[in-house]
Parts: sequence; structure tokens; C-alpha cells
Amino acid sequence: MHLYHELDAAELPDADFDRLVHQLRDLEAAHPELADAASPAEQVGGAPSSAFAPVQHEVPMMSLDNAFDLDELRGWAERLERRLGDKIPSFVCELKFDGLALSVRYEDGQLVRAATRGDGTTGEDVTHTVKTIGDIPHILPKSAPPVIEVRGEAYMRLSTFEALNKAQEKAGLQAYVNPRNTAAGSIRQKDPQAARERALSFWPYQLGQIVDGPTLDAHSATFDYLTSLTFGVNEHSRVVDTIDDVVAFIEEFAAKRHDLDYEFDGVVVKVDDLETQRVLGSTSRAPRWAIAYKMPPEERATRLIDIPISIGTNGSATPYALLEPVFVGGVTVTNATLHNQDIVAQKDVRPGDMVVVRRAGDVIPEVVGPVLSERDPKSTPWEFPIDCPVCSRPLVRPEGAARHRCPFDDCPAQVRGRIEHFAQRTGMDIEHFGERTVDLLVSAGLITDVGDVFNFDLEELRQFEGFGDTSIENLRAGLESSRTRPLGNAVFALAIPHVGSSNGKLLAKAFGSFEKIAAATVEEIAAIDGVGPIIAESVVEWFASDTGKTIIQKLHDGGVRPVAPEVSTLEPTLAGKSIVVSGGLANYGRSDAKTAITDRGGKAPGSVSKSTFALVVGNDPGASKVTKAEDLGIPILDEAGFEILLATGDLP
Ligand code: IVH
Repeated sequence: MHLYHELDAAELPDADFDRLVHQLRDLEAAHPELADAASPAEQVGGAPSSAFAPVQHEVPMMSLDNAFDLDELRGWAERLERRLGDKIPSFVCELKFDGLALSVRYEDGQLVRAATRGDGTTGEDVTHTVKTIGDIPHILPKSAPPVIEVRGEAYMRLSTFEALNKAQEKAGLQAYVNPRNTAAGSIRQKDPQAARERALSFWPYQLGQIVDGPTLDAHSATFDYLTSLTFGVNEHSRVVDTIDDVVAFIEEFAAKRHDLDYEFDGVVVKVDDLETQRVLGSTSRAPRWAIAYKMPPEERATRLIDIPISIGTNGSATPYALLEPVFVGGVTVTNATLHNQDIVAQKDVRPGDMVVVRRAGDVIPEVVGPVLSERDPKSTPWEFPIDCPVCSRPLVRPEGAARHRCPFDDCPAQVRGRIEHFAQRTGMDIEHFGERTVDLLVSAGLITDVGDVFNFDLEELRQFEGFGDTSIENLRAGLESSRTRPLGNAVFALAIPHVGSSNGKLLAKAFGSFEKIAAATVEEIAAIDGVGPIIAESVVEWFASDTGKTIIQKLHDGGVRPVAPEVSTLEPTLAGKSIVVSGGLANYGRSDAKTAITDRGGKAPGSVSKSTFALVVGNDPGASKVTKAEDLGIPILDEAGFEILLATGDLP
């Protein structure tokens, strides 16, 4: 199979090959337990192409108008009645599933293509991942018409999502944010095997193009028809006669919002009679015969235990609500930011109050306000603390600023923050130097700035519980290998205001050592392509400050010798070109791909813009980058195309 599709060197005549694939498909249809995404029968045409191919929808995939409250919903029904004279239609109520819309096309009973909605006219070909969804048959019964498109929502069951996140946690990997994004991300990726592992599901809710299909007279009949084609349909759709019944359906499911094993964020109401649908027609965007009632973001009441202040690395003092745990909008919430003094005053929430907490979709939780009827009559408005909760010295609120801050650089919260930034993987990458160790060393006064990290006596750690020969030796080794970090990472690690990791690399490349950066003028630094005057001033100021000088000296004394980047001897084939890489490549790690670009004089920014020369996509590319590149007409290359680009500076 690989030979056939990828090397264009078929060892079988085409007809024999096709017949074999057909036999295999029939076998898999009869024994789905044998089917697998890597099976030749599942391959649409060898390895997936570099980007998702565009698919024209024969029948546009329209979106729906929304009703955000019951009045808007009733207004919609009244407009329908006016248009239809005195004929009052029946409605179908369906759940509005929260996932990714798909159109799945069958020709002669075979699944031939699956596409996303895209802009409604043109979607993306995602056949390879959609074929891994167990709810979507690959072969329809003999009764199926020659062409039929089934539209519906791909989603991830909540139980699947939880199991996936448990597995992530066990593997020490970051948790997925929510089932919808995870489902959408799984569909819009290159690797069907990865999609299969995510075990997605599908609810059909509409038909697209049909050639020589049966004559259906009601939308509700579509569901029976889909069942006859072996699709599983959602059991909760209901035909009702009046808008009051629709409201009752909405209320019933608002109460069941967290009782089902999948997320829904509203109810879709459709006119049942298909002839009436045709009479009503559509606007350019959405059909008049349907509306999506959006359920309001969920709100729950809980106890506000306290309003503590957290101190950021830069000293900002942020009040936040410490809450009795409450399950809202699909997650358990225990705290929520209250931003600043004015916002707390405006909401007038007080420790001890019952408060209303809201969370919509993947939006961060918010405290809406107090439940005044339950307030202790003796309570008084909350006041912003005078002193920093960490170093006990007075907080300040600078003129005109919304936020308080702790103005003391040596406040342990800030020291800890800077040291954690210094030691993190993208900085000095000091292994075995985690939060707890930093906390112990800072609290005991053994280190007061990042310069001390390489100078304190490791033996001092023995005084703390859990530190013995092994942990001390591990940290010693971690420090030793960090002494020769690449200069770019070391510059970033210093937490100079405005200097992020890419600026760190630019400075390293332009100057080659801490000493040379320290000796540079604002003009010299600002002359580096990609570094602006604000950054240049910040760098000069930091290296000239007492703090900066002390730290650089201490690092030097502690044996830190960052390694200057090798000056590239490669042809600058990409000079002036900006190339974005998204997704995993086989022969280049994420940073290797960037280095390959910058070593040839190009830029490798993280996002696609008008000035991007090309987008290189590997496995699991960022969906938004691909869409943006397509919108802007920016060439999209696969890894082979990337290599040609590197070598020649031109598109393949
Ligand atoms: S019908 C022309 N039914 O909502 C009618 N859509 O806001 C097209 N959706 O793109 C859609 N559940 O992704 C329909 N039961 C349902 C739905 C549903 C979720 C999504 C779908 C669509 C979006 C429109």
C-alpha cells in the first residue's frame, strides 16, 4: 500500500489493487472489530497531504440564528406565524451539541469524503480522521441512495474526556481544556491514529445533498431514515406542536444540563414540515425555519471563604476569591480572580458572603456578585490590605494605576518568581530545582537573587526534610550542566523587562556574551532586526543597574559560562523571509526547525500574518494557523517542501 501510494511504484495492476481494497472494506464492514485506521482499506490516498484539501459543499452548510432568551425565541415563532399566515407549524426540538460540524458524503454506499463546515461553502477534507469515529459507518446498507451527505456534530463524550485527562496526568502531560476543543483538534490533525486514540463520537442531525433519495415530508422522518442507514441518532429529539412545548423542552434540558455524557449548550428548534421549510427559505446566512436557543452561562452560588492577595513575579498584588468548591459549567471552581480593589468594591463581595459564580464554556470563572438576602447583617465592606501578605511591608497603588503592588524587589514572592523563571526549562533549565527547593532556600535566606543560585552551599540543604545525598548530588549535576546553557536562554532567564526568549536569542546571536551585551549602546541593540527601542533601553538599563551588575558578577563567580551561538555559515537563502512552522516534523524538533530557518537568515515567528512567506505543517498543526494561511493565500508546505525551501530559498 505504501509502495502504491507514496512511491508510485505499484506492484499490482490497478484493478487488482482496487478489488483487494473493496474486499477488505467488505470484510471490515462485516467485522468492524477488525477495522483499523492503518488498514489499507482506510487509506484515502497514502500519507495525508501537507494541509487539508478544500472541499466544496454542494449544499451549503449554513449556520443558525441564535436566540439568547425565551422572548427572542417567541419572537422568532411569531415571525414564522406571520409569514405563514394562520398555519402554525410543528417544531422539532433537538439538543445543540457542542462539538465540530461535519458533512459526511457517501457515494454508492461508501464513505468517500468527510469535511468540516469551513466558511459554509468550502470546508476541509478530514476524511482520514473522521473514518476513525466509530459512530460513522463506512458502508451503508444496499438501500442507500447513490449520493447522500449526512451532517452532524463530532464530539467527545465526557467520560472519554475524563479518561483521556487521567491518562495525560499519569503521563505527566498537560490536561486538555475541554471536550469540544479536544474533539475539534483531533479531527483537524494529520495523524488518523492519534484521532482514533481520542475515541470521538458523532450525532447526525441533518441531510445535505441527496441524489435519488426517498421523499421525506418531515425533518423528524430524517431521524428514522438515518436509523435505517445504521446511524445512531440522539434519543432526545422531540416533535412538539406549540412554542410553549418548546419552552418546556428547554426547561427540562436546562435542568439536565450536567446529567448527560456529552455537552450541549442550547436547543436547536426546527420547523418539522419540510415543505414549510422550503416556503420559509433562508437568508444568506441561516435558514428562517430553525433557530438555536443558547442556554445562558451556568451560575451557581457558593460561599466566599476569603479574599486573599497574590503577589506576582513583578510585584503586582491581585485579590482573588477563595471559594468553597462548586461545580459550575463543567468544572470544579475553587478560586476566581477579583482583579483589583475597584472591582471588589464595585461587586461589593465580602468574605463570608454567598456569591454567585459563573462560567461559560472555556471562559475563566467569574464571581458575579453577592446573594444579598443571605448576607450577615453585621458584615462590613472588604478593605484592601495595607501590607504585602508575603513580606509584610506596605503595598502601594501608584497614581492612576488600577492595581496595587508590592514595591520591594526583595519581597520573597518576587525573588521566588524570578528564581523560578531563571531555572525553568526555557531559561537555565536547572534540573532538580523545583518550586519547593526554591521556596525553602528563599525562605531560609540562603538565596536572595538569581546570582546566588550557583553560589550557595549545597550542604545547607541537609537541614531540610527530604534532602539527602541523592537529592543534593542530583541538584549539583543539574547546576553543573546549566552552567553552559546557550547564551540566548541565559539572557532570557535574567527576566529583563520586555526580553522574551526570542529576544534573548537575538541578543545572544548579535553579541555573543553577557559582557558584550552589557557594553552595547541602545542604538547598537535597537539596530538588531526584530529588537525595538523599548527592549533596547530596557536591556541597557538592566545591565547598567546595580542589581544587573551584581547578578552578572555572581553568575561569573559561580562558574556560569553561557555558550555563544555558533555563527551560521549557511547560505542566507531565507533572508527577509518569514516562515511559520506548525505541528511536528519527522526530521526536525520544534526548535531545530526554527534554527534551520534563522540560520539561513529567515525569521520563524509563532503566528501567521500577511507577511508570512510560507506555513510549514507537520503532524497535528494548529488549526487556526492553517485556516489563517488559507484565508491569506499563504503557501502551505509539508516537510519535503520545507527542505526544498531551506535549500533553495524558493517554494517547491
Ligand atoms: S442544524 C441549517 N442541529 O450548531 C441547519 N446544528 O450554530 C444546520 N449544532 O454549525 C445546523 N447541534 O455545528 C443543527 N441539533 C443540531 C445541532 C447543530 C449542534 C451546531 C452545528 C452548526 C451550529 C450552528
